[in-house]
Amino acid sequence: MADHAHHPHPDGQEHIHTTQGHGEHDHDFAAANRAFFDKHAHEHSHGHDDAHGRERAVKQVNALRKAWPELFDEDSTVAMDYACGIGLVSQQLCQYVKSVVGVDISQASVDLYNAQASNQGLDPDEMRAVCTELKGEPDELDGLKFDIIVCCASYHHFPSISDTTRILASFLKPGGSLLVADIKAAGDGRELFPATHHHLVPHKHGLSEDAVRVVFEVAGLVGFDMRDVFKAKMRPTGEEVQWFVVRGVKPT
Ligand SMILES: C[S@@+](CC[C@H](N)C(=O)[O-])C[C@H]1O[C@@H](n2cnc3c(N)ncnc32)[C@H](O)[C@@H]1O
Repeated sequence: MADHAHHPHPDGQEHIHTTQGHGEHDHDFAAANRAFFDKHAHEHSHGHDDAHGRERAVKQVNALRKAWPELFDEDSTVAMDYACGIGLVSQQLCQYVKSVVGVDISQASVDLYNAQASNQGLDPDEMRAVCTELKGEPDELDGLKFDIIVCCASYHHFPSISDTTRILASFLKPGGSLLVADIKAAGDGRELFPATHHHLVPHKHGLSEDAVRVVFEVAGLVGFDMRDVFKAKMRPTGEEVQWFVVRGVKPT
């Protein structure tokens, strides 16, 4: 069968072939990611991995602030950090907003996030994480709604970026912004993620502007604005990839 994965599926989901040789839609990416990040969260918070991740998080938060400075008000902005991991992005973000709630499906990551926030002397009202898989139902997160939702380095892990975008949009206040930072698909459509990561990364070619635009529009977000921000070497391949930031706004 031809490899269709170069072309995004209309719902933003690539055709997936797992190393186990199953059909394209029967691999549970969420379960695989939960297991992987539960197992490796601790390593990501130490030494070399920590420094690498922290540097990327600083660049991403700086890129978001540079692109849309008006969205970051330390006295009023209520932020969600979706797929927050151990909190590298939240730790940068928290100085520019009033509060951050991290959300992730990995309990080990959330525990490290909260331990770090507490070590920094931050009150849970300022920064805390919860382990849950959001469904977009009314009572989730105690009914909290957000001025901004930031999601860094994670969209390529989501089996349906269409479902995720729709769910995240439901947590925005009217006029609120979804801000995503991720790896841009290469012009020649080559795979950017190595085979060792294919069980974790459904979007192994990165994300194209068109694929992201479609899912933002279907989720009802307006003012689509995608910008290339920096290039970085991908580990472990050493290949240089282009990172983008994108904004979509929930209409008032
Ligand atoms: C590469 S890490 C990025 C963490 C953080 N955003 C950062 O930039 O440092 C990807 C995160 O996505 C989370 N994740 C993966 N699949 C997910 C899913 N289906 N739903 C929610 N979170 C998911 C993982 O648990 C992990 O913490």
